[in-house]
Amino acid sequence: MTDWQRVAILGLGLIGSSMARILKYQGLAKEVVAAGSRRAHLERGIELGVIDRYTHSLIEAIDGADLIVLAMPVGSMRAAFEAIYQVWSQGQRPIVTDVGSVKGSVVEVAIDVMGEWPSTFVPGHPIAGSERSGVEAGSAELFRRHKVILTPGPNTDAGAVERVQRLWRLSGAEVLQMSVEDHDRILAKTSHLPHLLAFSLVDSLARESENLEIFRYAAGGFRDFTRIAASDPRMWHDIALANRAAILDAIQLFKAGLGQLERAVEQCDGAVLEQTFERAKKARDHFSFMLASTAYAKTGNTMTEYHVQPGGSLRGKIRVPGDKSISHRSIMLGALAEGVTHIEGFLEGEDALATLQAFRDMGVRIDGPEEGSVAVHGVGLYGLKASEQPLYLGNSGTSMRLLSGILAAQSFSSVLTGDDSLSRRPMERIAAPLRLMGAKIESTGDRGTPPLRIHGGQILHGMEYALPMASAQVKSGLLLAGLWATGTTTIHEPAPTRDHTERMLQGFGCHVEVGQGWARIQGGQRLQATRIDVPADISSAAFFMVAATIAPNSDILLEHVGVNPTRTGVIDILRLMGAQIEILNERQAAGEPVADIRVQSAQLHGIEIPEHLVPLAIDEFPVLFVAAACARGTTILRGAEELRVKESDRIQVMADGLQKLGVEAVPTADGMVVQGGALHSGRVDSHGDHRIAMSFTVAALRAEGPIEISDCANVATSFPGFVELAQRAGIAVQAIEHTES
Ligand code: S3P
Repeated sequence: MTDWQRVAILGLGLIGSSMARILKYQGLAKEVVAAGSRRAHLERGIELGVIDRYTHSLIEAIDGADLIVLAMPVGSMRAAFEAIYQVWSQGQRPIVTDVGSVKGSVVEVAIDVMGEWPSTFVPGHPIAGSERSGVEAGSAELFRRHKVILTPGPNTDAGAVERVQRLWRLSGAEVLQMSVEDHDRILAKTSHLPHLLAFSLVDSLARESENLEIFRYAAGGFRDFTRIAASDPRMWHDIALANRAAILDAIQLFKAGLGQLERAVEQCDGAVLEQTFERAKKARDHFSFMLASTAYAKTGNTMTEYHVQPGGSLRGKIRVPGDKSISHRSIMLGALAEGVTHIEGFLEGEDALATLQAFRDMGVRIDGPEEGSVAVHGVGLYGLKASEQPLYLGNSGTSMRLLSGILAAQSFSSVLTGDDSLSRRPMERIAAPLRLMGAKIESTGDRGTPPLRIHGGQILHGMEYALPMASAQVKSGLLLAGLWATGTTTIHEPAPTRDHTERMLQGFGCHVEVGQGWARIQGGQRLQATRIDVPADISSAAFFMVAATIAPNSDILLEHVGVNPTRTGVIDILRLMGAQIEILNERQAAGEPVADIRVQSAQLHGIEIPEHLVPLAIDEFPVLFVAAACARGTTILRGAEELRVKESDRIQVMADGLQKLGVEAVPTADGMVVQGGALHSGRVDSHGDHRIAMSFTVAALRAEGPIEISDCANVATSFPGFVELAQRAGIAVQAIEHTES
């Protein structure tokens, strides 16, 4: 079924014609009509087959359309709304969206002409332009893996937002929502200012007498910096005037920075230069991930696949990277403490780095990470500052849920966003109980999903709350909020979950009471900086535990692994299945139990996994399903519906992948039934989920032929260096990068 009967595209330039291509090529509209002033362009649109017909009359184009896309320069929108007003007065209610780079001025014009914000008007902005323009330059792929920002108003019709969102998703874009004001402020800095600078630099140099010489020798830097000076002058003239106030602010900010550099050069102040460049480099590295369409690990159109040859044995000593949960918490509590917290063994994976960057964005000085060492200069409970831009948390649910608790109690407001996967994950589970404490939070996504808008300046009060699901993230978010709340905050959990927050708070000198199935914190306590030694992550070690178990002739030692009893479910389950696992040299490191773990090959047998172990092994089920596929008999998992809301739906995605490899794996609502047997060769999709990608890598040890795994870049979220370490241990895996066209 087509989504639209008739779509009117007003302005058949780069963006308009790209949208037309998507509608035509995917059969989303019965008819695509374009309106514009340049006959040649419109004719070309017909020749290229991207539109069905055209007209020079706006009213003729939109009359009877059920979708109107305003793709003209922002300065020409008034005429479009005047035409819309006419059909609106006749009772037509088309959905209207635009693609302008400025949102405030477009909304203003709409209100001015229509008397109010039309309920079906969903302003939009695809961040996917190019310096090229015109119908020829358009492409159905233009928006793929780019971000599209929608800025609906408070009274915008939800159905209209939904349909516009769907259209953009079908174009391959990632859709975000924010307010008109936030959009214009942010874009002034990230897009409008750079365009002005590029135009200005080229113009200034072009006016110099030796300009030919300059341009002849202008190499990479100049070319890169000024690429956007080839953009459409008319369009940028409109944008500069439409977003004046925000652009002027951005210019002031830039001038101040340039002034500082000017002084530093003048005074030969190398320290200032170096610090500025160093900070900028770090920020730029961060932004290149953030601006890429998905998680930190993915940049541009590069896709990472794993190709794994079958067979092999695992031998030797391995230390996997630092614990993800503890790394997140070390930055958070370090930032909120008084004094400098020194962290060793910090996980330099994208998720923990997202937390680190979020605190830098809130004004916390953090040195490193350098080979796992980080120094966090704590600002105390009341020292965080509002971030200039939304806090981008990549793929990381832990960052978002724990930060929600911290930010709900601040005097300033915040917006939390994430990549495509995180934008689909449930956030009401943390937002709803925080509201009970007095927080003001909107989950502005589709269904209680991000972006989260957290309003500052609320007084939180302690509460007693029973978690409806076993979630350490929610428990932790609420306990952290409890630091600022009046009275005590007591959280009951339906089953024990990881207790790193409780332990680490105690390490920072905070009193946390812990009982069977509950934890309690008193508000108003201060945190004192400390030293943290992050043990190796048992969730990362789990891949090698299963690998060494299922691969014949294996014997490995996993060193310095965190064996907190709330995390060792994987060991219990594997032992119940017949695995050979020894815990050696148990010791304590900064309040957490640590041990070396020896694993030798063993023949596994299927079991019914005891439900009480589920929360204690929650992240290890993808690889445990692989163990089950290699076991004799049937393995049954129940009570694990939480797996459906992880980075992917881990029940479905693992069942699909195992079935592709010939395994009888039957997904159920809350688990899976896996029949052990032969694993064939095949190609599986990890759905961008790090743990799925690593699990199928391990599966290849017992496969009859090679296994190819797609979409693996996100392994870097939790396990940087996985491929090298796996190779060293004896798994024949190779990462293949290729650029999507
Ligand atoms: C985590 C808790 C778990 C886990 C996640 C990390 C944490 O999530 O899956 O990888 O650090 O608190 P839930 O709390 O959603 O179960």
